Amino acid sequence: MTKDMSYDVIMERRTEIMKTAVGIDYEIFESGSIAFDYERMMKETGYSFQEIKEIQETTGVGNTPVYELRNITQLARKFAPKGKGARIFIKDEAGNPSGSFKARRAATACYHAKRLGYKGVIAATSGNYGAAVASQAAMLGLKCIVLQECYDSRGIGQPEIIEKARACEALGAEVIQLSVGPELFYTFLVLLEETGYFNASLYSPFGIAGVETLGYELSMEFREKEGRDPDVVVITNAGGGNLTGTARGLIRAGARDTKIVGASVSLHGLHMASDTQFNKKSFTTGHTGFGIPFATWPDRSDVPRSAARPLRYMDRYVTVNQGSVFYMTELLAQLEGLERGPAGNTALSAAFYLAQEMDEDQIIVVQETEYTGAGKHINPQLTFAKENGIEIIIGDPSKEIPGKNIILPKDPSYIKIEELDLNKTKKSYIKNAINHVKATNATKEDLDFLVEDTKSNIEFVKTTLDELGISH
Ligand SMILES: Cc1ncc(COP(=O)(O)O)c(C=O)c1O
Repeated sequence: MTKDMSYDVIMERRTEIMKTAVGIDYEIFESGSIAFDYERMMKETGYSFQEIKEIQETTGVGNTPVYELRNITQLARKFAPKGKGARIFIKDEAGNPSGSFKARRAATACYHAKRLGYKGVIAATSGNYGAAVASQAAMLGLKCIVLQECYDSRGIGQPEIIEKARACEALGAEVIQLSVGPELFYTFLVLLEETGYFNASLYSPFGIAGVETLGYELSMEFREKEGRDPDVVVITNAGGGNLTGTARGLIRAGARDTKIVGASVSLHGLHMASDTQFNKKSFTTGHTGFGIPFATWPDRSDVPRSAARPLRYMDRYVTVNQGSVFYMTELLAQLEGLERGPAGNTALSAAFYLAQEMDEDQIIVVQETEYTGAGKHINPQLTFAKENGIEIIIGDPSKEIPGKNIILPKDPSYIKIEELDLNKTKKSYIKNAINHVKATNATKEDLDFLVEDTKSNIEFVKTTLDELGISH
């Protein structure tokens, strides 16, 4: 008898399908209330930190170089008050196989899939992660399927997403391209069910533990070269795994004083799931369209509990506009001789401004770069934007309206950040955590969990619960 693969039946069975496909029973971490045991879930990877390093070394992942951006630092100092202008460094993650830090996430996921005897891996992603999984799967002799949300209903795709499809196919993956809409998750579940492959989720503990090596390496490299940890690490933030993994790695190394700043491209006012707005953006990751919803509710991801929980680690969250990131991409290429893709340059744009707030002898680090390629370049992106009715202007980026125009800064003094109100984000997260389990009361365990999960304190959590009418 053939299996019923109708939408309702598949959705009904999603927990069971996920359990089989990721090999983790998430129910064992649940308390039945708001809290769940995050650290226990992270330990369930079953690999020590040393083992993860070794897994990554086997496939050439990690140990990427760090560059000091002397010319960009000098430029930042021109606009900074006297004595200000921290030294800016960048960790060149483009040196990983497949060209981004995502190789760290994919290495552990693919290794684990292979060890458990799965024949292949599936990843639902329109980003660099697809290429990372395809590359690691190729090295380990696993089959690979990448599921991408790629086109609008006219069949037109963002050049960067098309670029990533090309990379996945070149690395031997089967790429399934969908148009924007709700069928992605259903298709993902059907594929898992039909193939019996491993769900190489971006949000599993394996993936996030893989990024810890990045933060750890940073601390070790700076201690060796500069005799101390960086003062600030700026991290491009979307789904939160980059930030979570890096911050956990820094903590693992004992770098407890290093401040963690999340940075996203502002796509304020654009709706990600809208067919007509899908192609109005010039950035496909590292933007607020992912950054804010995933920070305020990480468990919206493709596993029951996301291991990426950025609010747990973030000290500040800032945004930059699209035009500034394009501009910074050119600065990095033309002043430092490093031609890299947009994602890392988002954090770099923020770092350029943040450095001007810091003392000259301080250290600010952008913890990643990504490869660049045909669809990621500025030219195809700006051409595509124009074709989609976006006006390209040179002027004051603070006036940029996502979806209407892109404003390139008139000069580097116009590169600024906007500070997001983290307390507001934390409150929104707490509200979502309560709604998720329809709680009317918070236990002592819940309070402690919410304090940890929002990097706040007990007064903050209690006040928020009072505002929401939740007893505790
Ligand atoms: C190169 C690069 N940097 C940063 C990010 C953001 O990472 P995360 O989604 O874990 O926040 C991504 C994710 O798409 C990426 O591919």
